[in-house]
Amino acid sequence: MLLVAEAAVGADEAAALSEVIASGWITQGERVRRFEQEFAARHGAEDAVAVASCTAGLHLALRALGIGPGDEVLVPSLTFVATVNSILYVGATPVFVDIEALDRPHICLDDAARQCTPRTRAVIVMHYAGYLVDVAAWQDFARSRGLLLIEDAAHAAGVPGIGSHSDAAVFSFFGNKNMTTAEGGMVFAAAAEVREHIRRMRSHGMTTTSWERSKGHAFSYDVPELGFNYRMDELRAAVGLVQLERLPGWNAARGRLTARYRERLPRACPQVLQPFAAADTSAYHVMPVVLPDGCDRPQVMQAMRTAGVQTTIHYPCAHQFSYYRKMYPTLRLPRSEAFASRELTLPLYPALGDANVDVVIDKLAAALATGNALAGIGASHAA
Ligand SMILES: Cc1ncc(COP(=O)(O)O)c(C=O)c1O
Repeated sequence: MLLVAEAAVGADEAAALSEVIASGWITQGERVRRFEQEFAARHGAEDAVAVASCTAGLHLALRALGIGPGDEVLVPSLTFVATVNSILYVGATPVFVDIEALDRPHICLDDAARQCTPRTRAVIVMHYAGYLVDVAAWQDFARSRGLLLIEDAAHAAGVPGIGSHSDAAVFSFFGNKNMTTAEGGMVFAAAAEVREHIRRMRSHGMTTTSWERSKGHAFSYDVPELGFNYRMDELRAAVGLVQLERLPGWNAARGRLTARYRERLPRACPQVLQPFAAADTSAYHVMPVVLPDGCDRPQVMQAMRTAGVQTTIHYPCAHQFSYYRKMYPTLRLPRSEAFASRELTLPLYPALGDANVDVVIDKLAAALATGNALAGIGASHAA
């Protein structure tokens, strides 16, 4: 079975884990700090704060930036639900914004402008599939309205300069991401005091860490505010340091495989639409395509599965999940809904290989013939 994503973890990660175990210190310590510094340096950021997950990082970033009850936060519905959940964690109100277009499934500037109210405090943009939103344009948008700009960069680790135009950027190291620590996340924040605030809140709001106390740098601590246990540990940081070294090579490999898809898909599957353009800056996190209108997607996915190819969906719209539907019963986002109902994510990971890209394309072409036939539409119905 060709999977949609496959984590590359092996002997070097195992050796790094053994080293941590032999060291006798497994919870947050100097490796976590080194991982923060090296991750920041690789992206051209001043510093970073490692956390338990991207979700935890988004929560802390919003809190440290002072967003709370009564505030509205603009957010795409076409994202992983954690982006939106983090807004509810701080007691603020998510305001869903539609995407630009089927071939550009990024949060739409014009729609965001229409949704602004006197209570809007921030906007969270998400670099869908690893393709960067126009961050300079969003910076102008946020500055001209006095809003905070936060990047959900879960899909975009390894893109140089990412996070340099926003108030905070948050990364995920979940197992399907471009680099992984199994679970984990990293936060960039433009202001040093915001970073320090996040650092303290990730560890119960305590003013010193266990590591500092074990080294005799401190003997006690105060808790000046409510905090959380959102720490990363040494085991994850050790894996992260190994993965970080490989990230540029892996992203380049993802880029080459994406180029092969881009080149061959139009010939083999002329009825599918490929979002974004070959020249767009990307970490090439996933390979999304848009199936023709009316195509039987479950049938296509089943046919591909039977042929040995896993596919997934990025993403169901957040506002259409039953939990959010109760809060937004009448909300319609036509472009996000159309995209979410027709999107199909094809396998993409560095070790996939050119030959397997060709297999996926062949299987998609065959599955589309079945899916289209069932839905009563032909290949001439372009997306
Ligand atoms: C866009 C996006 N945001 C947030 C998250 C949450 O990341 P984590 O699992 O590290 O909390 C993910 C993870 O899948 C994601 O894809």
